[in-house]
Amino acid sequence: MKILGTGLNGLVGSKLVSDFSNTYTFENLDLRNPIQPVDITNEKQVMSVLSQNDAPFLVHMAAYTDVTGAWQQTDDQSGPCYKINVEGTRNIVKACEETGKHLIHISTAYVFDGEKQEQYSETDTPNPIEWYGKTKALAEEIVQASNGNWTILRIDQPFRNDSFPKIDTLHRLIEGMKIGKLYPQFTDHYFGPTYINDFVKIIDFVIRTNLTGLYHASSGETWTDYAFAQLINQTLNLNFAVQEGSLANYLQTSSRPYQKNTSLNIDKLKGSLDFTLLSIEEAVKETIR
Ligand SMILES: NC(=O)c1ccc[n+]([C@@H]2O[C@H](COP(=O)([O-])OP(=O)(O)OC[C@H]3O[C@@H](n4cnc5c(N)ncnc54)[C@H](OP(=O)(O)O)[C@@H]3O)[C@@H](O)[C@H]2O)c1
Repeated sequence: MKILGTGLNGLVGSKLVSDFSNTYTFENLDLRNPIQPVDITNEKQVMSVLSQNDAPFLVHMAAYTDVTGAWQQTDDQSGPCYKINVEGTRNIVKACEETGKHLIHISTAYVFDGEKQEQYSETDTPNPIEWYGKTKALAEEIVQASNGNWTILRIDQPFRNDSFPKIDTLHRLIEGMKIGKLYPQFTDHYFGPTYINDFVKIIDFVIRTNLTGLYHASSGETWTDYAFAQLINQTLNLNFAVQEGSLANYLQTSSRPYQKNTSLNIDKLKGSLDFTLLSIEEAVKETIR
């Protein structure tokens, strides 16, 4: 089966391609394609590719993902963050709708404000507190307003077992410990790590089962930065003395907002999966260094 994608060269997308190249033929709407470059912010380019392609699914991963860079563009609708995340998604949604393609849209836990004490579920109302989250929440609204088939998968802090040019949370911690430079790790910041090797299986599941709707698709676990760093330290025998830090203290010195909790409840999806997700402890054991 042919699968169209955006962002398939990225941290998450490239894993989907490498793990499922025997199952699907992927075609990427790619800025860097030498023959037919596609900028998703260009409505005509997007429509042209989709109308000439009979792939039944499009996995939309392309995004402006630099959260600090996004914050520096706050409220700037002519900046790349808004243009890629909102206008780019609008173009993808419209073209999928007009060409009858099922859109699988990848989103983020940063649509939430982080004030909840428990894990967020799909029924919680988004209330983003910074520009990246705001643009991704607007993108979700555009997808949800579509008359076509759509699936939204929200993830948080994705990491993979191998290293990748755009460094993920796991490998940033490994690097920091190896060179002996790691900031104190917050004991009061909670997140829901997503093992990309499992997440790409969830995308395959959505394709195989034509699943539609909004789903949380992390590991379903909640970790603090400190506990996660300690897990990596111990599992990989890095022998580093991880220091404890406090997000509450850090926020007193930073003007950039941070969500205190982005962990996701995945019960809605987990109940229907036909395979078992690895625990984060098992996932970290799979790390290739
Ligand atoms: N990474 C995270 O921490 C995280 C957390 C939660 C959710 N997510 C979501 O997961 C998805 C994948 O994230 P990721 O970390 O894999 O992203 P990434 O590594 O930053 O890759 C983003 C991709 O988007 C492409 N892209 C950017 N602008 C484009 C444009 N105008 N036209 C076409 N392609 C464009 C890039 O192409 P080039 O390679 O050519 O630059 C790149 O392949 C995103 O939707 C993101 O919001 C990520």
